[in-house]
Amino acid sequence: MSRQTRPQVHYTARATWLNDPNGLIHHEGVWHLFYQSNPHGNVWGNISWGHAVSSDLLHWEEIDVALTATEEVHYFSGSCVFDRDNTSGFGRNGVAPLVAVFTEHYMEASPRFGTQAQGLAYSLDGGHSFTPYAHNPVLSRDSSDFRDPKVSWVADFGYWLMVAVEATQNIVTFYRSDNLVDWTLLSEFGPANAKAPTWECPDLFPLHIDGTGEKKWVLVVSVNPGALYGGSGVQYFVGDFDGTTFTAPTTDSTDHRDYNWVDHGADYYAPVTFNDTPDGRRIAIGWMNNWSYAGAIPADPWRGSMSIPRELSLVEQDGRLTLRQRPVRELDAAASTPLDITDSDGRPTVPIGGAGLIDLRVTGDATVGLGAATLTYAGGLLTLTRNDSSAINHPEHSTPQWTKVTPVSETLDLSVLVDAGSVEVSAADGRFWLTSLVDPAEEIRVTLSPGVAVERAVRVR
Ligand code: FRU
Repeated sequence: MSRQTRPQVHYTARATWLNDPNGLIHHEGVWHLFYQSNPHGNVWGNISWGHAVSSDLLHWEEIDVALTATEEVHYFSGSCVFDRDNTSGFGRNGVAPLVAVFTEHYMEASPRFGTQAQGLAYSLDGGHSFTPYAHNPVLSRDSSDFRDPKVSWVADFGYWLMVAVEATQNIVTFYRSDNLVDWTLLSEFGPANAKAPTWECPDLFPLHIDGTGEKKWVLVVSVNPGALYGGSGVQYFVGDFDGTTFTAPTTDSTDHRDYNWVDHGADYYAPVTFNDTPDGRRIAIGWMNNWSYAGAIPADPWRGSMSIPRELSLVEQDGRLTLRQRPVRELDAAASTPLDITDSDGRPTVPIGGAGLIDLRVTGDATVGLGAATLTYAGGLLTLTRNDSSAINHPEHSTPQWTKVTPVSETLDLSVLVDAGSVEVSAADGRFWLTSLVDPAEEIRVTLSPGVAVERAVRVR
């Protein structure tokens, strides 16, 4: 198995396994990234909440585990809110609490073994340490697969909203609360569009349609397995939420290509958005992986990474409202020296141990070599193919990943973020994405067919 070079601009744990991002929140000038972690190894297990902090969304510092698995309870995915008005009563001496809301996954030692329910823990030191609430769980349906609560304060309606899933039923549940402890069911949504053995990690948030004052609500649902290439993927619905019910156009089509996918690559899963971002920015981070082979990707000794944080907006595209995702502007700010150009054709090279951001403009059909993967644009389809020399032996790993693309002008703009072990490709100003793990390479000499011009090629960090 090839050794992994640590990614530069994608979060990895120091030495352990990670999966879903959890509890994303901006608080007192600090971005908090909690995540599903095995503090004792680099395979899934002992599920706890790891914790990293950052001032710019790119440079992360791993700090103490926030919630540590016990014999009885593993801490599955969830979210974090700042309870400014101390509605929960967990605050002390004028200090308002940060409250983590997570799934308690009960182990054999627990009388609740075989079920999952939602619990709370609070922090009075800005998220450094958490105390589990004494009367957990706060919300149970006596279900084996009720999980992944995303809680946020909804100013429009003046309550705490929780979206969670009945995973195996493909149902998103909506609950409200005034104090984070007592929850009332509002409604349910689903099954719809991409049905699968599980729906996981839902998120619901408002977004304005770009250039208008019109607000829509976006429901994001991770689907596993059975997404575009058989394994993990993320679908979304754009609709309306009236404070009780979410409604959105859906389709009876059984063709997966007819659904809305956040990313058409193989390795983007369980994204959630930050609470309390300044300036109303809506920023998501996903787990850059796929459950089909997540346990088999190279480890050294950490295993797994997060996507680049993406800022979301809504645009009209081909007659439907589409999520546009742009890498956060902090990435541009981190752009440093130009990448070396290897020859007179202007081909950039991403050095070993470096990350590169390469903006391309494509006229007509084209091919771009990215070391362990090849990107082609032909007949309106953008396709990313990983080459055969992979350390990962799984059929899904060699399946071409593709999306239809509609350029925003006569030519197509592509943006390629290359980091150790991954490429994140976006097209048409963030309207189409292909996110993929690739074999870590020594260095990546980007090759360009005629018709591809380099607009920018910079190192990041
Ligand atoms: C999604 C998921 C969640 C669950 C967590 C467990 O990747 O399966 O549904 O809470 O991972 O680690």
